[in-house]
Amino acid sequence: MISRSTIDQVYDAARLEEVIGDFVVLKKSGSNFKGLSPFSQEKTPSFMVSPVKQIWKDFSSGKGGNVVAFLMEHEHFTYPEAIRYLAKKYNIEIEETQQTDAEKQKNSERESMYVVAQFAQEFFQQSLWEAKEGKAIGLTYFKERGFTEETIKKFGMGYAPEKITALSEAAESATHSLEFLEKTGLIIVNEERKQNIDRFRGRVIFPIRTLSGRVQGFGGRILKKDLKTAKYLNSPESDIYHKSKVLYGLFEAKKSIAKKDCCYIVEGYTDVIQMHQAGVTNVVSSSGTALTPEQIRLIRRLTKNVVVLFDGDAAGVRASLRGIDLILEQDMHVKICTFPDGEDPDSFAKGKTEEVIRAYLSSQAQDFIQYKATLLLEEAQEDPVKKADTIRAIVSSIAKIPDVIQREVYIQSCAKTMAVSEVVLFNALAQLVQKEQKEQSKRRNSRPAMEVVQEPPQAVIEISESFELEKQIIRLLLHYGNEKAFFEEVVMQQDGEGGVQEAVQQMEVTVHEKVFLDLQQDEIELTHPLFRKTYSTLIEQFQADGKISPQHFFEDVEKEYTVLLSDMLMENEKYQLHSWDKKNIFVKQPQDRVGQSVTQTILSLRRYLIGEKIQALNSQLQSESAEDSNLLEEINMYNELRQLVSQKLSRVV
Ligand code: CTP
Ligand code: MN
Repeated sequence: MISRSTIDQVYDAARLEEVIGDFVVLKKSGSNFKGLSPFSQEKTPSFMVSPVKQIWKDFSSGKGGNVVAFLMEHEHFTYPEAIRYLAKKYNIEIEETQQTDAEKQKNSERESMYVVAQFAQEFFQQSLWEAKEGKAIGLTYFKERGFTEETIKKFGMGYAPEKITALSEAAESATHSLEFLEKTGLIIVNEERKQNIDRFRGRVIFPIRTLSGRVQGFGGRILKKDLKTAKYLNSPESDIYHKSKVLYGLFEAKKSIAKKDCCYIVEGYTDVIQMHQAGVTNVVSSSGTALTPEQIRLIRRLTKNVVVLFDGDAAGVRASLRGIDLILEQDMHVKICTFPDGEDPDSFAKGKTEEVIRAYLSSQAQDFIQYKATLLLEEAQEDPVKKADTIRAIVSSIAKIPDVIQREVYIQSCAKTMAVSEVVLFNALAQLVQKEQKEQSKRRNSRPAMEVVQEPPQAVIEISESFELEKQIIRLLLHYGNEKAFFEEVVMQQDGEGGVQEAVQQMEVTVHEKVFLDLQQDEIELTHPLFRKTYSTLIEQFQADGKISPQHFFEDVEKEYTVLLSDMLMENEKYQLHSWDKKNIFVKQPQDRVGQSVTQTILSLRRYLIGEKIQALNSQLQSESAEDSNLLEEINMYNELRQLVSQKLSRVV
């Protein structure tokens, strides 16, 4: 783990406009910078960077946040990767925090496995480019397949020599521990014969990389056609390589997938490589196995649009249909594209230009459900029993789609394709959805204690009155927190005859002080997690520095909230962007209006909370059998209080 002090140093050093400037052309615009959104295709700039706040906001996609959020969105870095990137850029030494011994050992073991995997990759690569055997056999093979030197280097491809101890000897002389070579499956240790055998021998090698580009495993292809051994041999499962969680080519493709907002999924290593070489770079491979939910989630971080490319044979397509339902379940849009008989994406792309390939893909890609309907119908032909099965199969795919409206559209179009009435399909759908829901709740209720949680629950932003009021409090603090404003205060004054009298006076107070004191006095706590957290950060920053640094609000904030937060923070910039000439619509409220807004918001929140309280007491009263006079009294008191607050409110507005 990276230490807190390193993270703080990184935040202090990083200049948002510099970091973003490495990726986006920025132009000065008032006190801000403006540029074309890197997250969408646009012609007029709607991407704003505020050097003062150290916050960016992309008004075309809604994305926004601090410097780290930008790197996570744009480069698809994880949080630690983003911090490391910035540390490197600003020459900051990274300090790691203490870990337990077990953690340290596990980490250092995995780390060592990555090191030997990297070593092996370099060894295979060297054997391909520099050794006689590799050049004659491996390099020739790759070139015959039509791969350029540039491509071979880009994918780090290599060659494993025939000699059964080639790699283990090289590793030993480079003083790498054989233990880790064995753990990654690169060598097989034979205790009896006291001999180490390389797993990959006489094969060309395709290194498999993690999302961030580290080598974690290998695929090796035989060169001779006549052998009975499997065509491809892959690294076994290990602590650093889990086949079901890996997509070949994802590291090389991730940027392009996000940019094109579409991901092509192919079957093999060579399909990925050939398409890349042709310029179609938004492509990954599931390495010949059915897609897993983990793999789909990897793609889903980058895009919701997937096109699955199938080789010619229909049998393969049929077998894969089930895997595709998994993609639908994740609320993604799936298309299918097939190739002429005997062709796969590799052979098809070979020698073609990007334009030709993309044109083929976009003209041939069919909606998955339509495709499935047509394919199954063809097979069923006039057999009514088979046709009924087909209808059930299609409806079961449609039932996986979470979006209700989309489901309906599919029902309508499939009814046409299959020549059945929509009503029949809707009924079948309703039954299936019901069954699905029952099963889900059963699964929920009978969860084994040790089940691995697959995905953190998403933060759902529920809009309500309290949400709006709390949001307004945060907005006021963000924009006016450090300004002085006038507030009405009730003070005691002596009258001429020696008594005291209440009088209303205008007091000048800083907005953040006013908010803090009022909320504290009424013991009001914000209830929405985001606002509660932002509120305490804001108050702390005001009290400590007398100013705020908004970029820190985005640390460990759930993704769903960053849109909301950046919207609030960049309100003024938004107006700047959209209505240059209609000046000052929102931009600044006059000082007296600020005081009024603050008072009004706090009073409204109080009234709302009192209302909640009254409701709670009322329902308590109803559930209690005996009449409780205390309860009634309390309700009356709150009712009076609410009236008082309402009166005050009507005076403010
Ligand atoms: N595969 C595998 N083990 C095998 C066969 C295939 O792991 N014995 C995986 C590989 O990832 C391979 C993919 O399945 O890339 C697709 O297999 P296939 O279509 O048979 O191979 P191609 O990619 O077409 O390879 P090539 O063109 O080199 O024959
Ligand atoms: Mn092939």
